[in-house]
Amino acid sequence: MSERDLISIRDLDATRVAGLFRLAARVKADKAAYRGELAGQSLAMIFQKSSTRTRVSFEVGMLELGGHALFLSSRDIQLGRGETISDTAQVLSRYVDGIMARTFAHQDVVDLARFGTVPVINGLTDDLHPCQGLTDYFTLTEVFGDLEGRRIAYVGDGNNVAHSLLFGATRVGMEIAVATPPGYEMDEGYLAAAREEAERAGTSIEVGHDPRAAARGASCVYTDVWASMGQEEEAKERLRAFEGFQVDAPLMAEAEDDAVFLHCLPCHRGEEVAAEVADGRWSRIFDQAENRLHVQKAILLWAMGGAELGA
Ligand code: CP
Ligand code: NVA
Repeated sequence: MSERDLISIRDLDATRVAGLFRLAARVKADKAAYRGELAGQSLAMIFQKSSTRTRVSFEVGMLELGGHALFLSSRDIQLGRGETISDTAQVLSRYVDGIMARTFAHQDVVDLARFGTVPVINGLTDDLHPCQGLTDYFTLTEVFGDLEGRRIAYVGDGNNVAHSLLFGATRVGMEIAVATPPGYEMDEGYLAAAREEAERAGTSIEVGHDPRAAARGASCVYTDVWASMGQEEEAKERLRAFEGFQVDAPLMAEAEDDAVFLHCLPCHRGEEVAAEVADGRWSRIFDQAENRLHVQKAILLWAMGGAELGA
């Protein structure tokens, strides 16, 4: 266990999220200023699932900070042959200064943090994707400045990305409206936890099944794939269930005039998003993907480099 694990956005209060965004903005503006901050440090990156953005942005991020990243596919390390999470966490903690992990079971990342002694960063589980959610709100601050009182609409599957957006909204003061097809709602436990945090933060959470109602008045419309990694066998059934949930130009027209479209990527044009939106005037998807690098460098500087994020 480390005081600087990032398993969920809930691990950072609103002040720290604001501090993280300030640090990410500095890192983005002046890459050279942070070169060498993690000299001699190593990050183990465990992947049980595929990745383009997470793998490349963490690996390049470590390089740019003067450290080193090790790509550990679970197929190639003993974890894939039955070595326990607890032994893996304890052994890696003797070699490296931080662990980033992308797993199926959320509990695996929780256990890596529990048994490891170095900071553990969640690089996506079936439940949560905190590095993504933080990056998404950072991207929105670049577009809109202060986010307080603005609305984000999430349309689609009540999945890992949706859960992290839910917690992130409470940190940046945004209203969040989530529209999913019946049967594909967010996890009730995460929703209840986020509702408590929203109440404390004075923000609101709306959930329902109507994409248009969710998008109305939103500054950002967000969607994600209909079948996440590990749900490939359900893909056909989900295509039917998600009919009417595509983010297209008429749906964007329900949002504010200056609304933007975000997607964590990878996306499927013609399924959850129309090409006219993914490649249209609303889209900030490639700025968003780029920002994974800057925000995660800030996370690494906090987790492994001792940077403080504010009181
Ligand atoms: N958004 C995201 O995490 O992308 P990858 O699966 O490519 O890492
Ligand atoms: N919900 C998607 C996100 C991919 C970055 C998945 O888990 O596959």
